[in-house]
Amino acid sequence: MKVAVFSAKPYDRVFLEQANARRHELTFLEARLSPETAILAAGFPTVCAFVNDSLDGGVLRTLAAGGTVHVALRSAGFNHVDLEAAQAAGIRVTRVPAYSPHAVAEHTVGLILALDRKVHRAYARVREGNFALEGLLGFDLYGKTAGIVGTGKIGAVVARILAGFGCRLVAYDVAPHPECTAIGVVYLPLADVFAQSDILTLHCPLTEETRHLIDAGALARMKRGAMLINSGRGALIDTPAVIDALKSGQLGHLGLDVYEEEGPLFFEDRSGRVLQDDVFARLLTFPNVVVTGHQAFFTQEALTAIAETTMDNVTAFAEGRRLAHEVRPS
Ligand code: NAI
Repeated sequence: MKVAVFSAKPYDRVFLEQANARRHELTFLEARLSPETAILAAGFPTVCAFVNDSLDGGVLRTLAAGGTVHVALRSAGFNHVDLEAAQAAGIRVTRVPAYSPHAVAEHTVGLILALDRKVHRAYARVREGNFALEGLLGFDLYGKTAGIVGTGKIGAVVARILAGFGCRLVAYDVAPHPECTAIGVVYLPLADVFAQSDILTLHCPLTEETRHLIDAGALARMKRGAMLINSGRGALIDTPAVIDALKSGQLGHLGLDVYEEEGPLFFEDRSGRVLQDDVFARLLTFPNVVVTGHQAFFTQEALTAIAETTMDNVTAFAEGRRLAHEVRPS
């Protein structure tokens, strides 16, 4: 099977080639998949895409016109794919439903610890020869209430890790997870999770229902000075509302691995260019905000699993077998 791999970074090449073991003919394209680049996939039955590739109706129709019949996502999230348009264009879509929930969960806890103990500020200070402790005061995680929205694969691992710190755990999920209940997670209505959490962390998928789950109303219901962490999808939070809450002190700490408008920013070195996104620029001015560029998934183990499942999805499609990891319109 000929596969066009879009948004291909050197690390994608290494892990995908290793997992492929010469089963398929992989062509690596540095370009992101977009209305302008979709034509490059002409003649490739399978297109392999990542989270910030565009897979809207127009792109999918261009892919179909070029002979593409399968999109193999190398991500768990599929909110960026117009599934109805894919079905209408005769394109089947597969994803990697699980790779390493530990990768994302451990990074999430890294953001919590960095913000709490102000590791980002301490790092810069010590390098400048400033060993003063003023402004670095943190709090014990032990005994604090952590709220988890979405206790699926990643949220459940976050719950287990935070249970180890001695946190009290509350959660909201449309489908509570018995394993979480077994370790002491208490499921509550969403408004109560907002109201009780010292730390609120988001691990639900981005859907029409969860878009801007954290808006001005939700922020007003949260404890004053609470910490908000988002390693799910950027649009789970309304960023201007979060900026207002940071300015007023209602929100005490913010840790992000994703950003609603990350598409034009993340995964590239833009250090020599002028930042054009004023909302993102404002976020970077706060001392109590830590942003990472969608790297929570980025571990050896996760990249190995992503590549293996992606290539297995391609093989299953090529052999006409049942697609275990297919996503269809709901
Ligand atoms: P999962 O499907 O195992 O768990 C999602 C959970 O959210 C499920 O328990 C589901 O019942 C719950 N849920 C669905 N709708 C909800 C709603 N309206 N309110 C509350 N809970 C709801 O997914 P997994 O693997 O845990 O991933 C979660 C999300 O993390 C993904 O959808 C993806 O957007 C994001 N992610 C981010 C990565 C990163 O690198 N930053 C990497 C991988 C995933």
